[in-house]
Amino acid sequence: MADFVGAVDQGTTSTRFMIFDHGGNERGKYQLEHEQILPQAGWVEHNPVEIWERTSSVIRTALNQAGLQHSDLAAMGITNQRETAVVWDRKTGRPYYNAIVWQDTRTDRIASKLEREGKGDVIRQKAGLPPATYFSGGKVQWILENVDGVREAAERGDAVFGNTDTWLLWNLTGGTDGGQHITDVTNASRTMCMNLETLDWDDELLGFFGIPRSMMPEIRPSSDPNGYGTTLSGGPLGGEVPLTGDLGDQQAATVGQVCFGVGEAKNTYGTGNFMLLNTGEELVRSKAGLLTTVCYQLGDSKPVYALEGSIAVTGSAVQWLRDQLGIISGASESESLARQVPDSGGVYFVPAFSGLFAPYWRSDARGAIVGLSRFNTNAHLARATLEAICYQSKDVVEAMEKDSGVHLEVLKVDGGITANDLCMQIQADVLGVPVSKPVVAETTALGAAYAAGLAVGFWNSTDELRENWNEDKRWEPEWTDEQRTEGHARWHKAVERTLDWVD
Ligand code: G3P
Repeated sequence: MADFVGAVDQGTTSTRFMIFDHGGNERGKYQLEHEQILPQAGWVEHNPVEIWERTSSVIRTALNQAGLQHSDLAAMGITNQRETAVVWDRKTGRPYYNAIVWQDTRTDRIASKLEREGKGDVIRQKAGLPPATYFSGGKVQWILENVDGVREAAERGDAVFGNTDTWLLWNLTGGTDGGQHITDVTNASRTMCMNLETLDWDDELLGFFGIPRSMMPEIRPSSDPNGYGTTLSGGPLGGEVPLTGDLGDQQAATVGQVCFGVGEAKNTYGTGNFMLLNTGEELVRSKAGLLTTVCYQLGDSKPVYALEGSIAVTGSAVQWLRDQLGIISGASESESLARQVPDSGGVYFVPAFSGLFAPYWRSDARGAIVGLSRFNTNAHLARATLEAICYQSKDVVEAMEKDSGVHLEVLKVDGGITANDLCMQIQADVLGVPVSKPVVAETTALGAAYAAGLAVGFWNSTDELRENWNEDKRWEPEWTDEQRTEGHARWHKAVERTLDWVD
């Protein structure tokens, strides 16, 4: 068998291709950003054609730079930004509209109407999700209702839907020439259209959004020995590699962090923060504002579920300091600037740019910076931004403890901001538990590689994968209980100020 497994990680801001060896070590990597299209307030789009082109380039370049070729890969996995919706014509391969990104809030009326009509509880019960702009269903409805000709094309069976995993799988397996229209259970569980118990599209839910069933991809396990298809010799890999792993990026990171036991959790710090707690084969319904979602399904074994706390804006708040305010020139400067002051000087920043997600689910919220006095500087704002990342995660940890009864003993972290030492120290301080980061921080791509490799016997069991996990760094809490309680109470006061802002 070949010595490596590859994985595409198609994220919100960039796409990367990574190559791993049997020990889970990185053997090659290349990454490219894509354009964030912001046509008006609250709207966020990506160009699906650009995403496919970037994916092809990163695959080619990573293989070239590593001096490897397709025959060195035993299998390949895909992981992706979840919920982002692409609708395209299966005959021409052309998207009808830009991808509507998970952060986009244009469907707020669709979401609130579902709640008003009493459909919210059905969605919560069947799909495990509250009606919100975040998920794919409303985005597809918006395209069907607002883009000329799509409704008719969908009725004819020409218009098809997919998240970016499905879009890439379709292109990688031939596109208009026999491309496979497939997704996995984890991605499907983010659409508001899949029934969590049957793991199939639910006609009542599809009906809420007016989506014809023929638009929907086939739902498969996240690690599938039958494969979703094979890459083509004319494609970016230049040859055939079985595609056998597909998971949403946060579920992939949970697998990459080897959270295979009930009660194990990870927190990923990307554009947003996403904490997932493995609840095993049990479907735990949240009472505290979390989502119930599929964590993974390996082959024909039963699905494993998770509780998830999704936070829309964390890393993107740091980007906002850079791009919109211009007070830092790069992410690492958020740390050096924040280190200039011992605390946030009374400033609290609630970056509710897309409303508030877990555990509040308030689309009427908008961002606020409160507690300002003339004494405050950019450094206080930078520190308040890092604190906001950590306080939002604290809210999610509390909700998880309420729902599951599991008390977190250590928080496993990964993602870009974990390189920010100060932020991770604040996270341990705010939570009052240690924070631990693995040596291989690229857990998202690693998780997709694991799913793909397990399907073809490159790895034999999840126990084997556990052996690959090693701690790189640990941050211990330093704050007193009093500091912790007072800081959190003030944070909640600041959150209150952001609510009821949008009608
Ligand atoms: O649910 C959205 C999430 O999957 C996006 O993750 O890392 O691309 O920002 P990321």
